[in-house]
Parts: sequence; C-alpha cells; structure tokens
Amino acid sequence: MNAIKAANDSWVLITGASSGFGEEFARHYAAQGHSLVLVARRLDRLEALSSALRQQHHVNVVVEQVDLSAVAAVIALHQRLTERGIIIDVLINNAGHGLQGPFLDATLDAAQAMVQLDIASLTAVTHVFAQDMRNRGRGKILLVASVLAYLGMENFAVYSAAKAYVLRLGEALHREFKPYGITVAALCPGMSDTGFAAAAKQHITPGLKLLMMQPAPVVRAGIRALESGRQSVVPGWANKAIAFFVWATPRWLHQAVFSRIMNA
Ligand SMILES: NC(=O)c1ccc[n+]([C@@H]2O[C@H](COP(=O)([O-])OP(=O)(O)OC[C@H]3O[C@@H](n4cnc5c(N)ncnc54)[C@H](OP(=O)(O)O)[C@@H]3O)[C@@H](O)[C@H]2O)c1
Repeated sequence: MNAIKAANDSWVLITGASSGFGEEFARHYAAQGHSLVLVARRLDRLEALSSALRQQHHVNVVVEQVDLSAVAAVIALHQRLTERGIIIDVLINNAGHGLQGPFLDATLDAAQAMVQLDIASLTAVTHVFAQDMRNRGRGKILLVASVLAYLGMENFAVYSAAKAYVLRLGEALHREFKPYGITVAALCPGMSDTGFAAAAKQHITPGLKLLMMQPAPVVRAGIRALESGRQSVVPGWANKAIAFFVWATPRWLHQAVFSRIMNA
C-alpha cells in the first residue's frame, strides 16, 4: 500500500465500485491522484479496475470484497481500514439495487434485501465513517439516491421509498453535519446506462431510452454538488424537468405520467 505515493494525500471510499457510477467515481478520483478504497462483492471486477487505475494514475488502491447487505460487514470493514491506518476523507455511498415488478410478486426476502442494502447498510456506512470525520473536523459524503426519491412509483414501490429515505437522510445530515466541517450532498440520477437495469430486471421502455444518461456526466454532477456544498442535485436537463414537473403538479397527474414512462 505504501509503495506508491499518492499525489493527493487523501482517501476516497467508494461503495459499489465494481460497475456503473461507482466505477466512474473511482476513475474520476484516481485521475485527481486520490488514494482509493473500492468496495463491492465482485472481486474480479474490483481487481481489474484497481490494476488499471494503479497503472494509469499511480495511486494507492485498496480492494475490499464486502457484501454490504449485512451491517456487521460494514463495521468489520471500518475496523480493518482503521487498523491499516486508512482514514476516509471522502465517502461515496453509492452501492444499491432496485427491483421492478408488483410488490406482491416479489418475495419478501427480495424486498428485505433491498431495504437492507439501500437503507440499513447506507445508514451504517454513513454512521461509522462520519464519526471519524467529525473527530477530525472535516470530510465529504455523497449519498446516491434517485430521481424516483421524488415520487412513489408503482412497480418500484420499495426502491422509490428507499431512495426517498436516502434523499431525506442527505438533506437532514447536510445541515446537521455542517458544524462538524462535514459536507453532505445527495445525488438523484434518472435512468442511466449502468448495470442497474439488468440487476433490477427493469424493462427499458422507449420513454426511458430517451431519458438515458451515461455515467460520466452523472458522476461529474454529483462531485460538483459535493465540492460546491449543495444539498442535492438532479443531473441532466431532462431529469431536472422531471423533478420540476413532480414539484409543480398534483400527485395523481405526475404519478400517472411516470407510471406510463416507467411501465409502458
Ligand atoms: N442506473 C440508474 O438508472 C440509476 C438511477 C438512479 C439511481 N441509481 C443508483 O445508483 C447507484 C449505483 O448503481 P448503478 O446504476 O451504478 O448500478 P450498477 O452498475 O448495478 O452498480 C451497483 C453497484 O452496487 C454494488 N452492490 C450491489 N449489491 C451489493 C452488496 N450487497 N454489497 C456490496 N455492493 C453491492 C454492485 O457491486 P457487486 O454486484 O459487485 O457487489 C455494483 O458495484 C445505486 O444506488 C442505484 O440505486 C441508479
């Protein structure tokens, strides 16, 4: 780990770094010379990414194969990093997954797994790493929510409710952590071209195809929000228009419109 001297002497921890936004966050921070801790379950993908980043950017990369669906695994991860003297300055709380389909057709286990990862584990990761940040009087935390946080979406009931939790947690901690010198922001992406849709068994409708964003501009918007001290950001003009439409119209109207876009 100490063999390589990072140009930028601070550690960034990225959950869900094995694909999609997480991988893009890793590329971005490595290009800036940060040392990285990459967390996910698929070790082969993490290892491949870490050797590419070490080679390209000469940065420290620590790979942690962790199934974040158990809170005990989050605490063990924090302990391992502390024992190695790795203190996290920037936390990208990104791991998450969705599942499309009628609430009652999914097993209770599948619904619970989503709640466990998208809510319980995200809360635990934030809690343990923010303690260290408070002790040092500095730190940055980005929570990856979704534009679905703005509305209850049929056939995405648990996921949209979970992401509403993430957005509200971010908004609350944004104010609460300010006196500690910790910046918190929530990123609310819309449909994006990552591994998400396949993992969520999501049907890509023509409407969603039109809205599809690439991971890079989404990640840049999140990092800009975090750097400029914004509370939350919706990336892309089309997603911003969606958020505005939800804010400006009655629930029955925007829910009916988005139900067509998401499920047609
Ligand atoms: N893409 C979209 O349309 C979209 C829109 C709004 C919000 N989001 C949010 O963006 C975040 C990132 O998703 P993505 O779009 O980049 O999808 P993705 O490509 O499927 O990435 C999800 C990441 O989460 C990791 N992960 C899943 N379950 C995990 C577990 N139990 N333990 C540890 N890591 C786990 C996956 O790694 P392993 O499988 O290797 O563990 C993967 O690295 C999620 O929170 C998602 O809800 C996505």
